[in-house]
Amino acid sequence: MSRLDWNSHPGRTLQGSVRVPGDKSVSHRALMLSALADGRSHIRGFLEGEDTRATAAVLQKLGVLIETPADGERVVHGVGLHGLRGTAEALDCGNAGTGMRLLSGLLAGQAFDSTLVGDASLSKRPMRRVTEPLALMGAHIDTQDGLPPLRVHGGQGLRGIRYTLPVASAQVKSALLLAGLYAEGETEVIEPHPTRDYTERMLAAFGWPIAFEPGRARLSGRHALRATDVDVPADFSSAAFFLVAGSIVPGSELRLPAVGLNPRRIGLLQALRLMGADIRVENERESGGEPVGDLIVRYAPLHGIELPEALVPDMIDEFPALFVAASVARGRTVVRGAAELRVKESDRIATMAAGLRAIGAVIEETPDGAVIDGGVLAGGEVDSHGDHRIAMSFAVAGLVSQGSIRINDCDNVATSFPGFLELANGCGFELSRAA
Ligand code: S3P
Repeated sequence: MSRLDWNSHPGRTLQGSVRVPGDKSVSHRALMLSALADGRSHIRGFLEGEDTRATAAVLQKLGVLIETPADGERVVHGVGLHGLRGTAEALDCGNAGTGMRLLSGLLAGQAFDSTLVGDASLSKRPMRRVTEPLALMGAHIDTQDGLPPLRVHGGQGLRGIRYTLPVASAQVKSALLLAGLYAEGETEVIEPHPTRDYTERMLAAFGWPIAFEPGRARLSGRHALRATDVDVPADFSSAAFFLVAGSIVPGSELRLPAVGLNPRRIGLLQALRLMGADIRVENERESGGEPVGDLIVRYAPLHGIELPEALVPDMIDEFPALFVAASVARGRTVVRGAAELRVKESDRIATMAAGLRAIGAVIEETPDGAVIDGGVLAGGEVDSHGDHRIAMSFAVAGLVSQGSIRINDCDNVATSFPGFLELANGCGFELSRAA
């Protein structure tokens, strides 16, 4: 298959309503909990991305019947906590760190062995952060020097632990909680900074007794999950590209309906407001136990900030977009305490620094962040390193650069945001496939 590259050209003002796809984190979890529940769950707003489809395919290989009555919907026929069937086939998580890490916890509690594999990017991502605490629970998982593939040995008889995470990670927390469903006694996870709590909220919605508050979650094993319908909100991380685009293109006004506003996800909203952005939230409401609202972003001149470190976990996926905003803001932006960016789908500090420099931005990498001096972007050629969020961030940068930006290696945008190009062009982007 030939590689997909894009050209992003300086565009018009951005106008209109942009309905971004369903939340990736919520879609993964909805599939997993529905699969382990007793009964039939209907998921609406499901993200039709490669990451979440990979998780669905893994669960199907484990014997779960999943129907697709319409695009963005899944009906999952739960097999109960102990109803999964083992398979000798490798379970392919694709590009998805969330899929692999959460499944490693879930599979550690099964009676059978499994092998989890991923694509080239996922195969370079650290897995000891999950396998080490899972081993403390009695799990037995082999890695390749800490990297995938993961060989998960079943039939281990897990026991609950109290574990303080060394890094703030919702994926690790969730892996331990899912293993905790199968463990004898209590599993408690304590975080250095609170992270997204979708697993906790959804377990409660599926009827599993769980106590949680920001930074802490506790449950005991051996209850049951009750099938529950899930309404997946639009993904704030996908909305993020339009929040930055609308803020930096003069004259723009965009409406983003029904976006998930879980407090652990909206750090970028706060960061952009600190930079002077004009973003309003309307129609705030609850949907499926999650806060959602419509976001209205209007162009406003941005200025640089010292990003408060406390915001980092709440915007962990939004740094590529923030870096673009900072590169055209007035003055200096300083990011610290974000070393986790180096182990995402790419090393996001290095990839963004190289790309921004290639199009004329002034950025200095630091071990745990960057110093960015805002100015004018000239345009040029950048490499996304197969990282979906890097590709989409440079598509946004192309709107305000003097010349166009060629973005290489954009296939993986389909992991989290199928249809980005069409949706973006619908509101004023000038994005095209490059020859
Ligand atoms: C996710 C948690 C975050 C985030 C990822 C999705 C999740 O990863 O970067 O895109 O769904 O739990 P970490 O928990 O590793 O920071």
